[in-house]
Amino acid sequence: HRTHRIMVIGFGTVGQGFYELFNAKRRALGLEGSRITEIVDMRFGYTNMTDESHVREYLGNVDRTISSSDVVERIKASDADIVCEFTWVNYRDAEPAFSYMKAALESGKHVITTNKGPIALRYRELMHIASENGRKVRFKGTVMAGTPSFNILDLLPGARPVRVRGILNGTTNYILTRMSEGLSYSDALKEAQSRGYAEADPTNDVDGFDAAAKAAIISSVFGWDHPMDRIRVEGIRNITAEEAASGTKLLVYADRDEAWVRPQVLDDGDVLRHVKGVMNAIEIETDTLGKIYSMGPGAGKIETAQAALTDLVSISRSE
Ligand code: HSE
Repeated sequence: HRTHRIMVIGFGTVGQGFYELFNAKRRALGLEGSRITEIVDMRFGYTNMTDESHVREYLGNVDRTISSSDVVERIKASDADIVCEFTWVNYRDAEPAFSYMKAALESGKHVITTNKGPIALRYRELMHIASENGRKVRFKGTVMAGTPSFNILDLLPGARPVRVRGILNGTTNYILTRMSEGLSYSDALKEAQSRGYAEADPTNDVDGFDAAAKAAIISSVFGWDHPMDRIRVEGIRNITAEEAASGTKLLVYADRDEAWVRPQVLDDGDVLRHVKGVMNAIEIETDTLGKIYSMGPGAGKIETAQAALTDLVSISRSE
């Protein structure tokens, strides 16, 4: 382990979760020399961290907003060696997160992100910039938060993924579960929002775009080329309470030839039918083990922060 200077970009739910979790766990991880040295957020401005009271002062300063180009300048000027990017998703062009990551890589910093936009839309471009600069990009939190997903393959040297099925959106799975228990669609959606599972714009959840982004990300990691704009997507807006009660799930599918997202009635014998609430699950079929599974939370503050911590330790061990 080396010691790291960490810059956090985006201090919303995930950024604050990471701040808390990193400080709670860093000694146990042998990272006592590492520090979060800077935090920047367009809504709060910039702070150079010297002690913990700065975080509270910082959050009080809500009118000190800055622009995305100011954020880029801060990244370039920073002496951090890792940038953690936790800003909101944008499925049009992945900005401004993409520019933040590019600035970080080009100024010699590794990147950890939980942001699906840049990975789902601009994976190759990002990996090219990373390799040109000899830096790493890690993005575990984009699929199933801290719960193992595509990274399970790191534990299976030589195993080749053949196909993937999954329940990869917590908000829609929560809505379908609550509808099967008698709640209306809109009340169930409100609950998912108040629990912090939903995207800033819940359209991305209920119309399946969040799940499609995850299908694109898994496809890139597994060497299948399915850009997000070519993934067929159908969401859950028209699902009835009866359909929800009889085992309809928003299913993600990917293999070498195709990737899609759509509601499907799953058989009672299908493990994925029994995944409830905000839980996510992935089934990965491999050439050596057949089907393997992982299940756990796919959203939430500390749950997503765990993914960034996993990425941090992975980068630290590889140096
Ligand atoms: N809105 C997403 C979900 C968050 O509900 O699963 C995690 O990507």
